[in-house]
Amino acid sequence: MRVTLARRGAIASFFAAVATSTNTPLMPSVIQVRPQAACATVEELSKKTVKLADGAELPLIGLGTWESSKGEVEAAVSAALNAGYRHFDCAPVYRNEHEVGRALAHGGVPRSELWITSKLWNDRRRPADVREALEQTLASLQTDYLDLYLIHWPVVWARNTVMKPDSLASLAECWRTLEALVDEGKVRHIGVSNFGEVELAALLSTARIKPAVNQIELHPRLPQTALVEYCQRNGIVVTAYSPLGRGTLKGANMLSSPTVQELAARHAVSPAAVLLRWNLQRGVVVIPKSTNPGRLAANLEEPWRFALSADEVRRLEDAVAPGRFCSPPWATFDDQTTSQRLLGTALTQVARVVFSVAWLDVTKW
Ligand SMILES: NC(=O)c1ccc[n+]([C@@H]2O[C@H](COP(=O)([O-])OP(=O)(O)OC[C@H]3O[C@@H](n4cnc5c(N)ncnc54)[C@H](OP(=O)(O)O)[C@@H]3O)[C@@H](O)[C@H]2O)c1
Repeated sequence: MRVTLARRGAIASFFAAVATSTNTPLMPSVIQVRPQAACATVEELSKKTVKLADGAELPLIGLGTWESSKGEVEAAVSAALNAGYRHFDCAPVYRNEHEVGRALAHGGVPRSELWITSKLWNDRRRPADVREALEQTLASLQTDYLDLYLIHWPVVWARNTVMKPDSLASLAECWRTLEALVDEGKVRHIGVSNFGEVELAALLSTARIKPAVNQIELHPRLPQTALVEYCQRNGIVVTAYSPLGRGTLKGANMLSSPTVQELAARHAVSPAAVLLRWNLQRGVVVIPKSTNPGRLAANLEEPWRFALSADEVRRLEDAVAPGRFCSPPWATFDDQTTSQRLLGTALTQVARVVFSVAWLDVTKW
């Protein structure tokens, strides 16, 4: 049965709620705040790009587009192009790729100068579904190739379901299809998102083409230093999502932390620049989302004006309680607390019942 329009609001609320349902601090004993991972080279920081394993250069700052509302994101992407952004982070599940595509197509910047990342949603794992999903994304983004295509989450759901496992599909087979798409030139690089060490090791053991990027949540509340170092040791570039801790969206408010504010005042930049610089100095790409022209321009420019000292880095990491902002019930993070796991299991069961009776394409409603 198709999901009716009336149901879509409820489903959207469900996703919004579960996606950020675990904004509670993690147990300090689970995540240790550690020294920073390997730093970016001076050359990389000065060029404002990071080199992927094949030598391609990925701009260190890109524009995030999640929860950029319909009607707003096209203007935001146009403003970002004018401000100098060349890297855009998209996904069909954000339900705004066609608007992003419109802005990119009419932005006056040659395609060869743009870096466009998109993601493959969780219920597209079989070869034909992967190919169809890519074609939809390419059409929405008005381009004939992607610079980077990521497996959005390390899960395998049956087509048009939420969290219903597909026993006839696998991440390894999905990766083989992505490798074929690289061979065919439809995708320049392939990578993953929300993968931990266990999932990466499994993928690396069968991959012909290594993942170029792992996109994960990273900010001073969640340094994930061991995972960042594991990726960097294996030639996988790390991209930080929610690098501003989701701004003021979920009440965590890292931007208003007294230490962040003090460092911002000391370096005469915005609090956002302090958080972005914290990731950039460790060679991690950042993709802050903003639809505000002033803020998105500042996010691209201010982090290059200053550097954080080792002491300031330590102070930032000590100043904020550890925690995640993006932890949906299907997440496989190994730092989840028992209550988060139980909540996830309970929500999974509820979702399975709700969605077992419904046809659902979350990338389209
Ligand atoms: N792979 C994944 O599973 C995954 C998960 C989450 C996110 N992502 C990607 O990562 C991107 C960024 O993460 P995010 O959107 O979760 O959160 P974020 O970038 O950490 O924070 C975005 C919030 O910060 C505000 N903001 C932006 N610049 C600011 C500034 N200079 N000063 C004060 N507030 C500022 C924005 O509001 P305004 O728009 O009003 O400025 C917005 O409310 C997403 O958009 C998406 O592309 C990927």
